Amino acid sequence: MRDIHSFARPDEIVVKHLALDLQVDFDAHRLSGSATLQIENRSGGRELVLDTNGLSVSRVTLDSGAAATFALGEEQRYLGRPLAIAVEPQTRSVTIHYASSPDAAAVQWLAPEQTAGGRQPFLFTQSQAILARTWVPCQDSPGVRMTYEATIRVPRGLLAVMSAENPTETSTDGVYHFRMPQPIPSYLLALAVGDLGFRSLGRNSGVYAEKPVVEKAAWELADTQRMIDAAEELYGPYRWGQYDILVLPPSFPFGGMENPRLTFATPTILAGDRSLVSLVAHELAHSWSGNLVTNATWNDFWLNEGFTVYFERRIMEAVFGRPYSEMLARLGMQDLEHSVEELGPESRDTHLLLDLTGRDPDEAANKLAYEKGYFLLRLIEETVGRAAFDAFLRDYFDRHAFQSMTTEELVAEMRGRLLSKHAGAEDRVRLDAWVHGPGIPSNVPRVKSDAFEKVEEQVKAFERGTAASRLQTTGWSTHEWIHFLRGLPKSLTVGQMRQLDDAFHFSASGNSEILHEWLMQSIQHEYEPAYDALEQFLLAQGRRKFLKPLYEKLAESEAGRSRASGIYAKARPTYHSVSRGTIDNILKWTP
Ligand code: BES
Ligand code: ZN
Repeated sequence: MRDIHSFARPDEIVVKHLALDLQVDFDAHRLSGSATLQIENRSGGRELVLDTNGLSVSRVTLDSGAAATFALGEEQRYLGRPLAIAVEPQTRSVTIHYASSPDAAAVQWLAPEQTAGGRQPFLFTQSQAILARTWVPCQDSPGVRMTYEATIRVPRGLLAVMSAENPTETSTDGVYHFRMPQPIPSYLLALAVGDLGFRSLGRNSGVYAEKPVVEKAAWELADTQRMIDAAEELYGPYRWGQYDILVLPPSFPFGGMENPRLTFATPTILAGDRSLVSLVAHELAHSWSGNLVTNATWNDFWLNEGFTVYFERRIMEAVFGRPYSEMLARLGMQDLEHSVEELGPESRDTHLLLDLTGRDPDEAANKLAYEKGYFLLRLIEETVGRAAFDAFLRDYFDRHAFQSMTTEELVAEMRGRLLSKHAGAEDRVRLDAWVHGPGIPSNVPRVKSDAFEKVEEQVKAFERGTAASRLQTTGWSTHEWIHFLRGLPKSLTVGQMRQLDDAFHFSASGNSEILHEWLMQSIQHEYEPAYDALEQFLLAQGRRKFLKPLYEKLAESEAGRSRASGIYAKARPTYHSVSRGTIDNILKWTP
């Protein structure tokens, strides 16, 4: 089966192991050195094709020691250039000597001013979906797995960590060795370098962060070990040994990234009250759905994310109780409705199985696959019963461990092993409507949250004229506040906004999710007292999930657009390429 986002031909020759030896040059913004790939030649083929994007290749050698003939093909948008290497049928490995480009899309180089410590530079990579090829020549397809090892050379005094077995102490010579003994797809290759510290969180968990942040991070993430234990209880052993979280500087473009053994996370989850840790449950859940059983291509993205959201909410339910996880599910339904509205209810992009032909898979990174996938799995759970569904899932992760999965294969298994065994289940679920059809099918499960009903009563009371300061909000959690803010009437006046701000101090909130919802309302209702906070927020962090809606909302009006451009001119150099690409598009920015 071919992956439309890779030049590689793994059906002919496949890479089984990668040995990296890279020098990290903070002055030149370059990674340079070599990648040795062990290959399995299944076809007697004479050409190994790899993915590259922006790499300059100086020389390639074969295991025989001989120089190999190689050629870089024509550059294609998003995909980069194929690297074709001439091999012999008996060739077992090739070594590519290369350097990455200073603007490699996977790599963000941070100046000391962009870090919490302020003294040392920082580097991190983000390989999903097809950016691994901007720093490692590889078969950059989620359907190909390899083990890896690496030697990474960094300036003395800095710590390097990878999606692999990691050191916890800074080395004296700046040289680090890594090993990842389980086979992984290339999008899970990851590296970070900085002035990092480590704290253990339990039996097999811990946290890395810049030294000034590490205590706060360890406190916030203290529930991690309980989540691992709950996850194992649900769907079987955690197969990766250690589970650590690296809390990155604020320009990290995602909430989290499930790099194996070492989740990368945004510091915007450090709310000071542990209320945003479902993100950890999510990235941890990927250790099964995604990292163990992997979407075969990016069209099958929902297999990674939909299963992970389902598993995330089961972990949250096990650790924090059903009312908590039901609040998350309700917010998820709002996200789903919003995505469908944005994409259009009949849009091809609202099918679970995507067709990304001719497009960058990064475009599929919206909430649809997450939440439509979640609600399908919840529907199946509710149809066949939790016990039967859990048994199916556990068995699925075991039988397909370290393999990739297509939507077609999954659907066949669901039918053959689960739905067909429960009378009427096929008809009640209507798998095809979910997987190959648009929008939200009418049999979508309903989520009931008593906590949120109380919140809705308070929104109504406010609408009817009850003063903000008199609303009954004692004991509300972050999620109740988010629901409150999302539910505010479209017709709010600036006076009402001010009243809310005076009563609840939203503009000064240290909780990124609450602040984000408030700033959306502030733009919508032209509440000027929040504009400074808005500018600060856009300058202080680079998480795309927050940036995109805010810039989009600003861009809806002429005045907003010009404010957005002013802020973006300052912020753009601090954003990761992934976020920059998105905001460039919104503001039609041409650098
Ligand atoms: N694997 C994703 C992040 C991703 C998706 C990166 C597609 C590149 C392309 C990660 O697991 C994720 O889903 N992160 C979410 C947080 C989560 C709690 C929904 C994010 O970053 O917002
Ligand atoms: Zn995810």
